Order: sequence, then C-alpha cells, then structure tokens
Amino acid sequence: MGLIQEIDYGTKASNATKLVSLRIDGQTITVPEGTSVMRAATELGTQIPKLCASDMLDSFGSCRLCLVEIEGRAGTPASCTTPVAEGMVVHTQNAKLAKLRKGVMELYISDHPLDCLTCSANSNCELQDMAGAVGLREVRYGYDGANHLDAVKDVSNPYFQFDPSKCIVCSRCVRACEEVQGTFALTIDGSGFSSKVSPGISEAFFDSECVSCGACVQACPTATLMEKSVIEMGQPEHSAVTTCAYCGVGCTFKAEMRGEEVVRMVPYKDGKANHGHSCVKGRFAWGYATHRDRITTPMIRAKITDPWREVSWEEAIAYTASEFKRIQAKHGKDSIGGITSSRCTNEETYLVQKLVRAGFGNNNVDTCARVCHSPTGYGLSKTFGTSAGTQDFDSVDEADTILVIGANPTDGHPVFASRMKRRLREGAKLIVVDPRRTDLVHSPHVNADYHLALKPGTNVAIVNALSHVIISEGLADEAFIRDQCDWNEYAEWASFILQPHNSPEAVAKLSGVPADTIRGAARLYATARNGAIYYGLGVTEHSQGTSTVLAIANLAMLTGNIGRKGVGVNPLRGQNNVQGSCDMGSFPHEFPGYRHVSNDTARQIFEQDWGVSLSAEPGLRIPNMLDAAMDGSFLGLYIQGEDIAQSDPDTQHIVGGLSAMECVVVQDLFLNETANYAHVFLPGCSFLEKDGTFTNAERRIQRVRKVMSPKNGYGDWEITLLLAKAMGMDMHYNHPSEIMDEIARTTNSFQNVSYDLLERLGSVQWPCNELAPEGTPTMHIGAFVRGQGQFVIADYIPTDEKTGPRFPLLLTTGRILSQYNVGAQTRRTENAQWHEEDLLEIHPHDAEVRGVKDGDWVKLASRAGETSLRAKLTDRVAPGVVYTTFHHPITQANVITTDYSDWATNCPEYKVTAVQVALSNGPSEWQSSYMAHSAESRRIGAIAAE
Ligand code: SF4
Ligand code: SF4
Ligand code: SF4
Ligand code: FES
Repeated sequence: MGLIQEIDYGTKASNATKLVSLRIDGQTITVPEGTSVMRAATELGTQIPKLCASDMLDSFGSCRLCLVEIEGRAGTPASCTTPVAEGMVVHTQNAKLAKLRKGVMELYISDHPLDCLTCSANSNCELQDMAGAVGLREVRYGYDGANHLDAVKDVSNPYFQFDPSKCIVCSRCVRACEEVQGTFALTIDGSGFSSKVSPGISEAFFDSECVSCGACVQACPTATLMEKSVIEMGQPEHSAVTTCAYCGVGCTFKAEMRGEEVVRMVPYKDGKANHGHSCVKGRFAWGYATHRDRITTPMIRAKITDPWREVSWEEAIAYTASEFKRIQAKHGKDSIGGITSSRCTNEETYLVQKLVRAGFGNNNVDTCARVCHSPTGYGLSKTFGTSAGTQDFDSVDEADTILVIGANPTDGHPVFASRMKRRLREGAKLIVVDPRRTDLVHSPHVNADYHLALKPGTNVAIVNALSHVIISEGLADEAFIRDQCDWNEYAEWASFILQPHNSPEAVAKLSGVPADTIRGAARLYATARNGAIYYGLGVTEHSQGTSTVLAIANLAMLTGNIGRKGVGVNPLRGQNNVQGSCDMGSFPHEFPGYRHVSNDTARQIFEQDWGVSLSAEPGLRIPNMLDAAMDGSFLGLYIQGEDIAQSDPDTQHIVGGLSAMECVVVQDLFLNETANYAHVFLPGCSFLEKDGTFTNAERRIQRVRKVMSPKNGYGDWEITLLLAKAMGMDMHYNHPSEIMDEIARTTNSFQNVSYDLLERLGSVQWPCNELAPEGTPTMHIGAFVRGQGQFVIADYIPTDEKTGPRFPLLLTTGRILSQYNVGAQTRRTENAQWHEEDLLEIHPHDAEVRGVKDGDWVKLASRAGETSLRAKLTDRVAPGVVYTTFHHPITQANVITTDYSDWATNCPEYKVTAVQVALSNGPSEWQSSYMAHSAESRRIGAIAAE
C-alpha cells in the first residue's frame, strides 16, 4: 500500500452545462464551458508545468510557468487563466515554450536554497518537480546577488514552521487563507523582489489572526510552510482515507503514515463534506492517540476508594460479566444498563444497544446525544417525519439568506463555517440569532445583516415573532403550504402566531431585541429566493429546546424553504457521530431507525434477527438511571466512550448516582472524570486503530479505516463482543462490515449501505435504499417524509430558571475552536497552547460594578453550586449575560448548571443558568475537593503501594 495521490487539476471544475470541444497536442477533449486550458489538458493526462495554480484555488496567473501556444492567438497565454473555447487548438510543448519555462524556473531557483537533499520536502516538492519537468540543469545568474536565503524561520506555531528563505512568493498560501479558510490572516508585503509573505502585520504566526487550519501549509508548493511532524519524521510512505473523530462536519483525511506512525493528516479533496479543507483539530490534533496518559491495560477495583489493579482482558471481562449477572440476579433484570458513545463508530454503537436490549434484556440504553441534540430528533421527526437535517453541506452554496440560530460555526464547525463564509462573500445575506457576538457576526469580509442578540432562553419567542411578521405582512408561501402541508393545522397555528404576544413589539420586551430588528430579519429571510436555517446547541440545550426546533421547522415550512438545494433546516451536530449514535438506536425508547420499542413490527424484525425476545417497555434515560441508582434499584452501568461526570449537567447529581452503583464500567482512552467512580476500566481505542463508519451532520456515512494496531489490543467493537459473550450472548462478527450488513438488513434507511458501496461511492447519505440506491442529499423533495408537513404550536414558556437579586446574571456556555468538548483529546495535544483554561466572559459594565478586572479570579455561583475561574472583560456579551467554555475539568462548569431540562426529551438546559459573579481568591471548595478525589481515585496499584 503506497501513498494515495490525488491529481491537482490546476483550476477548479466548471459547473457549466454547456460543453466545449478543443484539441490539445493533437487530442480532442470535450469539457464544460469555463474550464481552463490547464484543467482540460490535465484531464487528458498532460500535466502542464505550474507553480501558482491549484485546483483548490481561483486562477491567479502569476508564475508564468504554465504558458501554452494557441493557434490563431498572439503570444503565449497562461493556461491556468485561459478558458477553453470551441475549436481551440492548443500546444503545450515545443522548443519555444520549453525555453520560456526554463527561464522562469531559473529565476525562481536563483533565489532558492539548493539544499534539496536535506530539505524536509525532498521528493514531495512541487518546485523540485517543476525544475525537473522543465529540464533545468543549471542556473546562469549565480547565487551571489541579493537574495532571501538568510530570512529567519518562524517556528511559533506548534504544528508547522514558516521558512521564508524557501518562499517563491506564489501567493498560494495567501489565497488559501482567504478563499478556502476565509480568515485573511496572510498578506504579501512589499512588491517585486522585496515582496514577502507575512502573517498579520509582520507578526509571528502564533500571535496573528491565524487559526492554524493548515490550508496554507497544504497549498505551499515548497518547504516554506511545512508540518513540523514531517520535518521530524520524514516523508510519509503510505496512506489510507479515514474520517475525523472530532466534530459533526465529518472531514475526511488521508492519514499519511510511516509504518504505524502518523506523519500527517491531509484533508481529502474527494471528501464530500470538506472538499480538501480541515480545521486545526482534525489536521493537527491527533497526538492524543499516542499520549502517555492513555491506559492500555484493563483495570478493576472492588471499591472506588481502592487503587486500580491492572488485570488481563480475560479477568476484566469475566469480572464485569459476573458483577452484572450478580446484580441482575439480586435486583432484577432492569437493574443494569449501558451508555453508547457519539464518538464511537456506528457499528460499535449498534453493538452496545444490542448488548443491552438482547443481552441485558431491557431497554436501559441512552446516549450523550440526550444532552445535545435530542430535541432535534423529536422536533424534526414530528414536523417533517425524519429526525435529521434536510440538506447536504454543499447546499449552502445556493443559499441566498442564511439564518444561524444558537450556533457558532467558526468555532464549533469550522470547515462548514469556511464554506458558509465563502457564500457570504459571494453576496448571501446573514442573520445571526445569538446572545453573544460570535465571529460570524463580524469577521474579515463578513458582516451579519442582522444580529439578534437575544436574552438567553427566549429563542422560541424570537422565532415565533419572525413567523408573526411573515404572516402578518403577507410573506408566507401559501402555495407551498397548500401543496405540502396540512392546511387546517396551518390555519390553527397561524391564528396562534398572530396573537399579540407573538408580535415583535411584545417579544422585544422579553428578549431585548428591538422590534425593528426582528421585522427586518423576518423580511430578509422570507423574501430570499433560498433561505437556509442552521442551528446548534444554543437551540436545543434549553428547557424549551424541542419548542424551538418545532418553531424553526414551522418557519421553514411557512416560507417554503424545504425540499430543494439552498434551503432547509440544518442542525449542526456536535460530535463526530452524534447523528449515527441516534440512528443506531441509542435511546431507551427506540430501535435503530427511530422505531419505537413498543412497535410490534419493528420489534419482530430484531427478535427474528437476534433470536431473542425483546422488551416492549422503554428503558431508563441517563438522569433516570442516576435517580434509580440513588434509590438502590439501578446498580450496574456499561459506559462506552462517554464522560458523563464532566459532560452532563448538575455534576453533583451525577456523582451521587455513580457513587451509589455497584459496578460502573468505563471504556475509554483515558481515565476520564467518570472513571473516578468506576469499578472496571476497559481501555478503548482511537479512531486510528479501528474500522467502522461515522455519520456526520448531513446524514453522510463515511468510512473510518484502521491505520495502526490497537494499542490496547482490541477495537472497541471487539470489547463489546467479549463482554456479550461472557454474559452468555451469542454474538459473533468477523469484521465491522458484517455489523453494517446487519444494520442494513434490519433498518430500512440503511438498506443499501455496505462497505462495498462506501468503497465505490466514497460516502453516502441516508436514506439509502431501493427508493434512493445511492443515498439522499436533499430530503423532502416534493413531499415530506411523513406525508404532509405538520405545523405544531410551540408557545414560548419562560424557563423556571430566573434571575433575581441573588443571581442577577444569565450564564450561557459554548466552545472554542482549538478545544473539543470536555477536552479529553485536545488538552492532550499542542492545542492546549491556545486555551490553557476556561475563562468567564463578562461585560465591562457588569465587571466594573463588581470590582472585577480582566484576569481576576471570580466565583461563579448558581442555585446548583459554585466554581471559580478567571474573568475576561469583553463586550462580545451583552450586559447581564456571562459566558464560558467547559473544556477543562478544573473549571467544573457543570457544577453550576441546573437540572432543568427540555420538556420533551430531558435535554439539559445548559444554555441558561442564573448566576452571580464575585471576586474570589482561587478555586472553590468543591473544585479543590473534586480534584483531590480525582487524584486519589486515579491511583494505580503499584504507585499506590509505594
Ligand atoms: S493556517 Fe489557516 S488561518 Fe493560518 S495562515 Fe494558514 S490558511 Fe490562514
Ligand atoms: S509560503 Fe509557500 S505558498 Fe506562500 S508564497 Fe511562499 S512558496 Fe508560495
Ligand atoms: S471541522 Fe470538524 S470534522 Fe473537520 S477537521 Fe475540524 S474537527 Fe474535524
Ligand atoms: S500556474 Fe499558471 S501562471 Fe502560475
């Protein structure tokens, strides 16, 4: 297996439908109008020498290496900037062109170090290749004149270096930063010979606006911008395509390897979600997989106050099975359960829920998706008929007005954000509904037309007010509603929406958003040719999360923005496989494919396939498992790849529940916070060590491919199989592909999915069945999946979490680009350099009245608890609102979140907590005792004995 090579066609593909025929070096080719001569030649197999061109970028035409002759035209035009024309006759190679190209290369090389043999890019350098391609053997100008060979390296970025002595000023990096990433961090300073690339105003990369996406590194044709891992380890020698294990964008990468070591991750141009782009996490933050903190030997202990004892896999599995059986024998079959992971593969998640339903004999299975997007599943299923987003990411290219609600894509879904920003630079309009001024509201070349900086907790009121304006001003798409929705339901809903309490004026009072702003935003969305809605956890993690999802779905139906490209309702999913874990039947009331456990037909399908009888009673959700633990009726829990002690709300409730259990089994890479309360630790394996699939936010199923042997000895799916067998279950698979075959055979929306299909197509979006053999990029075309779209009345009911004299501020939470969720992975990489601690953002006015200065330790207290962290003064948040991230365990942000949750799904209300902020001396009592317990409970045998 060698390196996967992707052809660089030099310029982007044309989307034109009209075709044009031309002759290149005597061969005829037909391509879409607008294709460049360079691309047409490459498609014929003729690589015209090039340096400044790349098919990831717009044509630039600066290096003059790609010259060609065109019959009937004067001179030697650049093939990268010359579009094809009907009947054109092109010559790419003759003596005159060769001489011109050699002259160009000679100039470049005369100002370039000749250390090719020891250069880190040796054998993978376009400049070196081009020197060879044009036959350059000597340089007439010598190397003694003015040059840049002594320019100083910038090694400030933890992942790549910038060596300006090797720069040929082709500008590919600058264009990649602008066009692909949309950050505009790089410039070309000066002109002519003195021109040079510079981050910001001659800043170091680390101090500049650069967000370390690596697009410039990938674009650079020389060793000027180069991954430090390549400099240290040498050029990779084989690769495999796999999928990022961080967020729900689902970028695919070539994992480029030497032996079993990753040298670098290169975004895959054929990846349908990312088209060759990535963010800092996926491209660079993979070092956690080999971090020294990783636990690779199973461990057990009788009590959580005991030190851990390392044991063999046989002993760990046998102990777990005997404990689970003992608990069930004593307390009944419902006394144990499992939690699946949105970080693990579809196949692994499917197995855990199968183990619980068929092996444990109950439906006590739940997932961390409960704490993020469960309202999406419920709300979209009720209104549209499917628990998932309606579009593919490419759809944003055709959106004219983009409405972003409660999402911060530049931090949370960066690659999609780059895509969205490109569309905005092309002229699409933007409405942002968010209490905080996110980067999307104002960033280089992007300014939101409307920012509705609402008071946290008032989403439903705002979305209903948008609908109110649209109906009252006659902007509804009545034809669409009559054609595709139930008109009577619509009429009932419309009369509710038209009630005065939904008017912009009434809503302005409670949300803090001026009525004019609401009206303007409503008109902009309703009158767009294509209006697209993207939303995130700022919508779902509320006591009214489901109501907001329903209100959003109503808004889209009201304006006919469903069922074609450029429109839709698109939840931006948090974790890499949160869509997949929901699809795979992780909830206690649903089998894979969202079929209720009480549905006899669905149950029979699984009973027949699995050869057991199954319970028709929904099982316990995570909060109910913890409650049941406290009252002594739920005592055993198998947790795969999930850290509920850190990610779930009301930490003290979680800790109480876990501490009351008799056998908590944690399967993970690291001793996470939940493992502090575990009796068995089963070492998990990283995405680099296993085969499987992830499903991203677009319902896109993509392969995860094993590039190294599991450091712990087993893939996560194999560990579940060992446990199932020890519990007496007859479960056997030779490879995850066989698990996918079972999913396909039992779940209609996956009917056609197989590893062979994924090999052939690269990826596929479910539903993928006889009606859509190669998947479904856009849902609900012509008709809703449920038949008619259903308008559901979703009234605004204020959360019970209220501010008052004791807790006058509202806390809302979010994440930042460099860190990922609870930080277990990213904190174990160089990404920690960008975010060493969680900070509390507070408006200068609120800080001043409390005597708080930037960087001060503050106590953040709510009705649930208190924690301490440092303050950051900023007007990104409005007065009365504070904001923090939750990436560091020491912060314990969830100690202060309450146990209020969504009325329909129990999704916790992370986004609204009434708090008070006061100066403090350092970590709170709870933090100190928690950290002490944490250190104590991580003792491993030999260390503890000392
Ligand atoms: S790493 Fe990304 S953001 Fe930074 S300069 Fe390069 S392209 Fe721009
Ligand atoms: S750093 Fe690389 S991509 Fe940027 S101008 Fe120099 S050679 Fe070109
Ligand atoms: S955007 Fe998400 S999927 Fe893509 S590289 Fe970044 S973390 Fe990974
Ligand atoms: S590749 Fe065409 S001008 Fe540089």
